[in-house]
Amino acid sequence: MVVDAHHRVIAIDGPAGAGKSTIAKALSARLNMKYLDTGAMYRAVTFEAMLRELDLDNQQLITDLAQECDLHVGLDRVIINGHDATTAIRGPEVTGNVSKVAANSGVRTEMRARQQEWASAHNGGVIEGRDIATVVFPNAVLKVFLTASPEVRARRRVEQHGGNVIEIAQSIKDRDLLDSTRADSPLASASDSVVVDTSDRAIDDVVDEIEQLFRERI
Ligand code: CDP
Repeated sequence: MVVDAHHRVIAIDGPAGAGKSTIAKALSARLNMKYLDTGAMYRAVTFEAMLRELDLDNQQLITDLAQECDLHVGLDRVIINGHDATTAIRGPEVTGNVSKVAANSGVRTEMRARQQEWASAHNGGVIEGRDIATVVFPNAVLKVFLTASPEVRARRRVEQHGGNVIEIAQSIKDRDLLDSTRADSPLASASDSVVVDTSDRAIDDVVDEIEQLFRERI
């Protein structure tokens, strides 16, 4: 493990629809740092398991898949075992099952190792997820926990992917509950994270604030 590269990580965690992806991408472009969406990794494993019709409750089977898969998560494309999963991983089927797969400790151990390798290979980066500040990069130079009201989060998801606002709000609520109550690396704000509520704020305004915090620390 290369500790210095991990120090050059900006960790962005938070629940669904808090604005993580938009803000993390904008920040990485501004700071000329690489960007990693760790949620896309869990989504891709879920996609591949569903494609193979594997029993998602079979922990060992899904762990084996996670360990063996050839996974590429880039800015524009997510490819797993040669399948382009970019669009499918955002659909309701994968979204409905991803928290179950992400609660599997074997899957998490494998994804965590890949995320740490990625950071070492790229000399840090802007990394978003649920446990990035708490577990994966405890030495990150900057840790941000993004939040927003449940109403705003549901509305954002509907604007992005369509759907019925009541159903989407329920699906977000279910996923938040599973993510924050699981035994392994639950969604939580690290004690040294800066908590930023994005509910009534423009993206650029939030990105400015995080950029400023980062520049104060390097
Ligand atoms: O985009 P959204 O916030 O809706 O979700 P995501 O970041 O794509 O993450 C999808 C799911 O992956 C989450 O609901 C978690 O169950 C899981 N996840 C995780 O467990 N740990 C991470 N570091 C990132 C995502």
